[in-house]
Amino acid sequence: MLFPYFAPMLEGKKILLGISGSIAAYKSILLVRLLTKAGAEVKVMMTSAAHHFVSPLVLGTLSNNKVITELFNEDQWSNHVMLGRWADVMLMAPLSCNTLSKMANGACDNLVLAVYLSATCPVVVSPAMDEDMWHHAATKKNIEWLQSIGHKVIPVGNGALASGLYGEGRMAEPEAIVQFLEENIFRGSALKGKKAMVSAGPTYEPLDPVRFIGNHSSGKMGFALAEALYMQGADVVLVSGPSTQQVAYKGIVVKRVQTAAEMFETCSALHADMDIEIMSAAVADYSPETMQVEKIKKAGNAMQVNLVKTTDILGWLGAHKQQQYLVGFALETNNEKEYAIGKLQSKKADMIVMNSLRDAHAGFGHDTNKVTIFTSNGGEHSLSLADKSIIAKQIIVNIIQQIHEA
Ligand code: CTP
Repeated sequence: MLFPYFAPMLEGKKILLGISGSIAAYKSILLVRLLTKAGAEVKVMMTSAAHHFVSPLVLGTLSNNKVITELFNEDQWSNHVMLGRWADVMLMAPLSCNTLSKMANGACDNLVLAVYLSATCPVVVSPAMDEDMWHHAATKKNIEWLQSIGHKVIPVGNGALASGLYGEGRMAEPEAIVQFLEENIFRGSALKGKKAMVSAGPTYEPLDPVRFIGNHSSGKMGFALAEALYMQGADVVLVSGPSTQQVAYKGIVVKRVQTAAEMFETCSALHADMDIEIMSAAVADYSPETMQVEKIKKAGNAMQVNLVKTTDILGWLGAHKQQQYLVGFALETNNEKEYAIGKLQSKKADMIVMNSLRDAHAGFGHDTNKVTIFTSNGGEHSLSLADKSIIAKQIIVNIIQQIHEA
């Protein structure tokens, strides 16, 4: 089976970016760069006040489109209706207090507002203003009005403001704006209504209050899988062992655990409701029989620690399988296929994603991975070395195909 090319979420999307007069307009340069890098087509419009803060030349060059500023100039009229209809989303970033007030009141005294009033696409705004203006009753009323007609408001940040004060009102960072668009405007629906659980990262098995037995798993693969499931519309719970990773999307529920026992407790409690379960965590197979209450002092030349087997979470989920599509991971150094197929059967999994330690740049500690997917219906598909986020999307597409074929 051929894997469909997995287009980035923003590829080919038409984004109309309106920039109004705020010091935060300098951030729109990076925003345009991120959007175009993600494959979006960006057209920039600016109010006249915005020209004080950022140059149309820079924005035009980065967006590959002439920046639109005037409704009329000497020899042409900008067709605001067609611009509003062209876009998949209209994004106002930064949205100044003044332009917010005009939008909320239906004013139409510049090109950006004329386009806004003609736009038939979803509208997203990213406000930027001083804290006192942000908290003013008039601003609150205007924001609430925009929300009441279905516009989406990207939360403002907290931090240093242009006035020298410190507080709420900063425009969201460009990366957060891109993630907001992905999550709120361009999220897919192939798994809408499905509940999914992913385990990720290592587990730490404590020996005493300061030491543990752990492993080098970063959690990157599991986090990427949770994000890919979520972006296909699933409701996702991510059960993560100790990891510095953060999820990109606010809608993913993250449960942080430390030990294999805690991971088992959390996963088994969630199991009954799940439709898809992906166990990508590197769970410790053995844990110290007892955790010493006080720090262990060194004594003698050798030390014995009694280890006891942890519960095999994937195995338990397989043994209690009902409606769930169950996916496990296998990290092998030799006889890869044989061991992977063995795990598919012994754990009653529907799919095993196999990593081989013989492949360079794959698995633990790398940003890239190279895997082979084995399915219980005899399928075997190799995915070439790619960024873990791409591999995750390909695995999820394969799961969607398997679920639909079943
Ligand atoms: N797994 C689990 N709970 C455990 C151990 C592993 O859920 N206590 C899951 C992992 O998340 C992964 C799969 O089981 O999906 C790995 O299978 P396993 O047979 O445990 O692999 P190894 O630990 O590598 O075992 P072996 O050393 O026997 O190959």
